[in-house]
Amino acid sequence: MSTLSGARVVITGGAGMVGSHLADAVLAAGASGVVALDALVRGVPENLAGALATGRARLVEVDIRDREAVRANVAGADVVFHQAALRWTRCQEDPRECQRVMVDGTFNVLEAAADAKVARVVLASSAVVYGEPMRLPIDEDHPLNGTTIYGAAKVANEQMARAFAHLSDLPTTALRYFNVYGARQDIRSKHVEVMIRWLDLIDEGKPLVLFGDGSASADFVYVDDVVRANMLAAESDATNAIVNVCTGLETRMSELAELLLEITRSDVGVEYRPQPAGALPARRVGDPRRAEQLLGFKAKTSLSDGVRRLVDWRRRAFGTARASEATA
Ligand SMILES: NC(=O)c1ccc[n+]([C@@H]2O[C@H](COP(=O)([O-])OP(=O)(O)OC[C@H]3O[C@@H](n4cnc5c(N)ncnc54)[C@H](O)[C@@H]3O)[C@@H](O)[C@H]2O)c1
Repeated sequence: MSTLSGARVVITGGAGMVGSHLADAVLAAGASGVVALDALVRGVPENLAGALATGRARLVEVDIRDREAVRANVAGADVVFHQAALRWTRCQEDPRECQRVMVDGTFNVLEAAADAKVARVVLASSAVVYGEPMRLPIDEDHPLNGTTIYGAAKVANEQMARAFAHLSDLPTTALRYFNVYGARQDIRSKHVEVMIRWLDLIDEGKPLVLFGDGSASADFVYVDDVVRANMLAAESDATNAIVNVCTGLETRMSELAELLLEITRSDVGVEYRPQPAGALPARRVGDPRRAEQLLGFKAKTSLSDGVRRLVDWRRRAFGTARASEATA
């Protein structure tokens, strides 16, 4: 029988992009209940509207730094998906807050899960742990050359998960997501990702600002695929695994800009500006083979389909108004 059918599921960061889609998916897979723990620093309750309407989900406003609250909510769970985190830029601004949320907070989640003897914890890690790539595509054995506070915290999370697996027989899987995008991604804060920044510029009739010569690249993976990878990881027998979640396809930023202009039928064009210091790696594409071998996971959503879905959702969420005006 499926691990998720009838399971009591806890999702930290459950009001965020990945967490809220995961709530919908595990409910559809027959989970008996979902507890979404979220401090609502970036996610919003509206993301959980569908899940809450089933009557089988609850949103509990909890900060994962609160050990007792985490423990109380994880008690009785069968599966924990740990998604709560700060954005990497926030971690650079305030490293100590990052340490407290992402390192101490993750410790609280793992400790509570071990005490509750849950069947599995699936943790969100990140391709940021690899830093500037030494080879492409980036496989899981690539050296961890990261240089960010966020990346260091994610490495600590992975290692702590492995340590708890040995100490307490707690089955864990860490998923290193590449660039996740899709419906319900943050469109409100000052920390929005490149696609949203560019869609805002298109609404304003301004050219898309592209730093560098456009040859920088990323591996964009749609949120529904990331959710499926999480579900497969929860169902899998693989223990202590660390797995990339990516498409294996490299997209140059200049190609992404052209695609956004085409899908929105915009003629604002692209403005190239010099690359600022401290920019993210020049090229990035993941090796998806371990995910396929170990979890049977393969990303399915093409970039053009995924971007169309993001654009449609954003339009519905904001009308044609600019994000900043809509939340002013
Ligand atoms: N989006 C990406 O491109 C990407 C890439 C690699 C890894 N990840 C990781 O995937 C996970 C999910 O990311 P997402 O894109 O859904 O981000 P998100 O910001 O939409 O979701 C994260 C959620 O965590 C919540 N949160 C933050 N601090 C908290 C705290 N102290 N206590 C409780 N909740 C807290 C936020 O309010 C938010 O709802 C994160 O762990 C992130 O680091 C994301």
